[in-house]
Amino acid sequence: MVTLTVNGEKRDFDVEVEMPLLWVLRDVANLTGTKFGCGAGLCGACSVLVDGEITRSCITPVEGVLNSDIRTIESLATADKLSAVQQAWAEIEVPQCGYCQPGMIMAVTALLAQTPKPSDQDIDAAITNICRCGTYDRIRQGIHRAAEIVAAS
Ligand code: FES
Ligand code: FES
Repeated sequence: MVTLTVNGEKRDFDVEVEMPLLWVLRDVANLTGTKFGCGAGLCGACSVLVDGEITRSCITPVEGVLNSDIRTIESLATADKLSAVQQAWAEIEVPQCGYCQPGMIMAVTALLAQTPKPSDQDIDAAITNICRCGTYDRIRQGIHRAAEIVAAS
């Protein structure tokens, strides 16, 4: 049994401590917004925030995050308000198939928390997630738009 703090709530899970966080989130906690892509830490589809740091949950055993604040895509919007990144994504219609986008949005959320007005170079350095639909141009536009929304709020 392990106790994790997920989206602000302490929850007990009957899992082995070696289990990757992604499996706990999707298969046990039923938080399926976080996606499985490569399973090897390469694509970023499984990205979540751990103590504010972008983290690839497919290669993160839960024993490493027992005392951490874990945030998934489900934590970003409130009942009546999208996050700035989600608003920008909707405005610009960033997603194509959408599969990579929860991980992208989490990575962008982490980037803007540290760098509120990122340059294209900042974006290239920070956003290493893979999009098989090739939405990279719109992701870049979305990041700049999200930065404007944050600045205006
Ligand atoms: S599924 Fe985790 S990085 Fe690809
Ligand atoms: S929108 Fe399809 S993989 Fe990125």
